[in-house]
Amino acid sequence: MNTAAIFSESWLTRREHADHSARAALPTQAAGAWLAARCQAREARLVDLGSGSGANVRYLAPRLPGPQTWRLIDHDADLLGHAVGRCQPLRDMDGTPIRLTTQQHDLNALAADWLTGVDLVTASALCDLVSDTWVASLAAACARHRCAALIALSVDGDTRFCVDDTDVTDRDDAWLFTTLAAHQRRDKGFGPALGTAAPQALATAFAERDFRLVDAPSPWRLGPAQRPLALSLLDGWAGAAREQAPEERARIDRWWRRRREALDQGLVDLYVGHRDVFAAPEPDHGPR
Ligand SMILES: C[S@@+](CC[C@H](N)C(=O)[O-])C[C@H]1O[C@@H](n2cnc3c(N)ncnc32)[C@H](O)[C@@H]1O
Repeated sequence: MNTAAIFSESWLTRREHADHSARAALPTQAAGAWLAARCQAREARLVDLGSGSGANVRYLAPRLPGPQTWRLIDHDADLLGHAVGRCQPLRDMDGTPIRLTTQQHDLNALAADWLTGVDLVTASALCDLVSDTWVASLAAACARHRCAALIALSVDGDTRFCVDDTDVTDRDDAWLFTTLAAHQRRDKGFGPALGTAAPQALATAFAERDFRLVDAPSPWRLGPAQRPLALSLLDGWAGAAREQAPEERARIDRWWRRRREALDQGLVDLYVGHRDVFAAPEPDHGPR
């Protein structure tokens, strides 16, 4: 059975603004400092995993020192085509145009030397799809090649409806989110997915290899301006819950109607927890 997760260009575009607003500054700043110390005047070599249409590169390139050369890897050739078109005018934080290549590849089947010569490996909204084993392989490859990692926007399961900082709970929220978390752990093409366990798995895998970690929350706070994204998220969650618990369809539909109405009427906002982590194989700052 093909379990690979499919992501549309329109969905990735719809979430990009929320993703960029959510990003935690500290892990990105730590990655910038690492690159500056490691590469000094030479070109920094970066690889973005599961790039989709390039949203992570559009966020990172102008915030990191240059010059930069990026390799974007994804199994979806159409998304990579969009990435090329939408990342071409990008410049690094010093104003130098970045260089960019793409590679259509299954991330399960990367060759042993895929990180050779790479300074920083990045990913966003990817690591909740992968397995514990995959994260351990990533950390091992980074350790072998003395390469740092900046892994952003991994869901942490802290999902709430709220007004300002006050939660507005529904009787079925907790049950629905537990059902959703079980669906998120289904195989997305890498074996059993980490889902909301991804931030902890990343921290553990890199800490075990003595990497220095800079870890921070990067939640979506979806208020009135982000209502269309909140509504499509809600629809997706209800669909996933119906797949996970088909016998509870009526209960899910009732929850979905109550929550859609509350969002539509502007009675609640939506908070979706994520985390960003930077991991560096210190002490090793010298140029190679
Ligand atoms: C949630 S999207 C995130 C895309 C992008 N990083 C972003 O932040 O917009 C996950 C990406 O991982 C890619 N992906 C999923 N499974 C993959 C696999 N086995 N090999 C390569 N890419 C994969 C998808 O095609 C998709 O582009």
